[in-house]
Amino acid sequence: MCGIVAYAGDKRAAEIIYSGLEKLEYRGYDSAGITTLSGGEFYTVKRSGRVCRLSKCLEDMRGATGIGHTRWATHGEASDVNAHPHLCGRFAIVHNGIIENYAPLKAQLAEAGHIFLSQTDSEVVAHILDSVYDGDIIGAVKKTCSRLKGCWALAILCKDFKGFIAVSRGSPVIIARGNGGFFAASDIPAVADGADNYCVLQDGDVAMVERDECKIYSAELKPVSREFMPVEREQYAWLGDDCSHHMLREIRSNARTIRATCQKFPLAAGGGLYERLRGADKIIFVGCGTAYNSALAAKRLFSGAYDAFIEAVIASEARYNPPAVTDRSVVIAVSQSGETADTLKAAEILKEAGAYLVAVTNTGYSAITRIADKVLPVCAGSEICVAATKSYTGQLACFHLMSALPDYARRKAELLKVADEAEKLAADELLSLRIAELCVSSRAVFFIGRGGDADVATEAALKLKEVSYIFSDDYPAGELKHGTLALIDEDVLSVVIICDECLAEKSKNAVEQILSRKGKVALVTTIKSVSDEFSGRVSAVWLLPPVPAHLSHFLSAEALQLVAYRAAVLAGRDPDKPRNLAKSVTVE
Ligand code: M6R
Repeated sequence: MCGIVAYAGDKRAAEIIYSGLEKLEYRGYDSAGITTLSGGEFYTVKRSGRVCRLSKCLEDMRGATGIGHTRWATHGEASDVNAHPHLCGRFAIVHNGIIENYAPLKAQLAEAGHIFLSQTDSEVVAHILDSVYDGDIIGAVKKTCSRLKGCWALAILCKDFKGFIAVSRGSPVIIARGNGGFFAASDIPAVADGADNYCVLQDGDVAMVERDECKIYSAELKPVSREFMPVEREQYAWLGDDCSHHMLREIRSNARTIRATCQKFPLAAGGGLYERLRGADKIIFVGCGTAYNSALAAKRLFSGAYDAFIEAVIASEARYNPPAVTDRSVVIAVSQSGETADTLKAAEILKEAGAYLVAVTNTGYSAITRIADKVLPVCAGSEICVAATKSYTGQLACFHLMSALPDYARRKAELLKVADEAEKLAADELLSLRIAELCVSSRAVFFIGRGGDADVATEAALKLKEVSYIFSDDYPAGELKHGTLALIDEDVLSVVIICDECLAEKSKNAVEQILSRKGKVALVTTIKSVSDEFSGRVSAVWLLPPVPAHLSHFLSAEALQLVAYRAAVLAGRDPDKPRNLAKSVTVE
């Protein structure tokens, strides 16, 4: 949700910032821009569209200090003029977040004679800085921030300062050292090529950064020190593999994610977690999108394991209508990025109401980890594709282990076996391609299943629609006949997931109902007899390895991730950067 990069060092800033922005494009790709500073002059280039549109304009950009931005539009369309950086007088800024009170601020400034060029909320920051500046840069930053409401990660250039200023308030900023200087960025991939170590700014921190020095101050402008940690480069280096897209590479990392999550779990799971869960009156999962979908599976796993009332809630709903909790309740916030605004807010509200907060996240330094009482790591490594795949798998692995506490050794062994099957499955091309072709040639695709298969259907429908733009929806198989069957005809595909022996007979009824209305069916099953029964009668059957029902979601979900990926490619979409979306949704 917008990415910022800043650099002050001994190299040309424009190219270094450009390369950082390329790595942050997953956060937004509506427009991009860079400003460099040299000899008290700004050099700016900004364009609507992807970062690569800047590549031919870098040559003339002088200076070894600069800031850059890749945008996911919130206020104002995706256009050159709305692209960051925004400039006013002696200042240039890039911003990730939302200035909630920008409208009254803009009106006041306009009345005082300021002329605004863009429709963005962010531009007011540059104007306020310029209007309060009296030669004291950090003082101007403090005064400016005190007038803002909302959340912001800012990188600021001032013509009177050789370096840059970085500010974090509710949106992430890391400071990294390396490549002949210092960086600031929204996330580590931006700097992983050149930086050796990094620290995370805490809420309200202001960093004054020059080539040889980085001074960090708290919101009250007291000097503070933040711990620098090594950049684990291998996590971010996508070495010459044969994957044409991050999405495929990440699906192929599902197995590795299960193994790594199993390995790290013991370190994090102690400290009374089991006792908390066992004694809980309620266990509430909260998340958005795919994280919410994994929570649906968690709800099912936990229901057999703990006596508490268990629920999964959508964070954007829960923040305005929070479930009642007590000091015996456990809230489990699920978030790949750990920065999703709705999830953070809902978690904060439930924690304030007394609940014990557990974060299940893929991002160890994220905002959710700072408010959680306990953090359980999902070890998927950096996920770049906007569509979540391996992080979903890692979340499932973590929930399995949590649901098998205190003695989870047997479950861990089961997970490691299923990881081997997932690895083999990811190598398959033919069946995913066959079902993807059916998706692309259909007017709509319905994913249906019963029990745990219904949870996989929910995630599969989201995956297909977000990367291929094909209309897709999900239903528990028994719900079809209560309305949706009216939509079934020869142009509509139903992908039916049958991996639970106990419910197979019932799901087979749904297949018959669809076939008798001339609907197309693709079957995804771990059950050989089901596959035999329908082979030749339906358009495709994907027989997955025969794993127990409670583990089958690892394989059926991965199979349908592959289908979504191939459908996107067949439909000519970029699966890594779906239109209108961004990774880590840091605004409401
Ligand atoms: O970073 P988070 O897990 O909190 O993100 C939640 C959703 O925004 C995310 O899962 C989104 O739905 C993805 N585009 C799904 O592929």
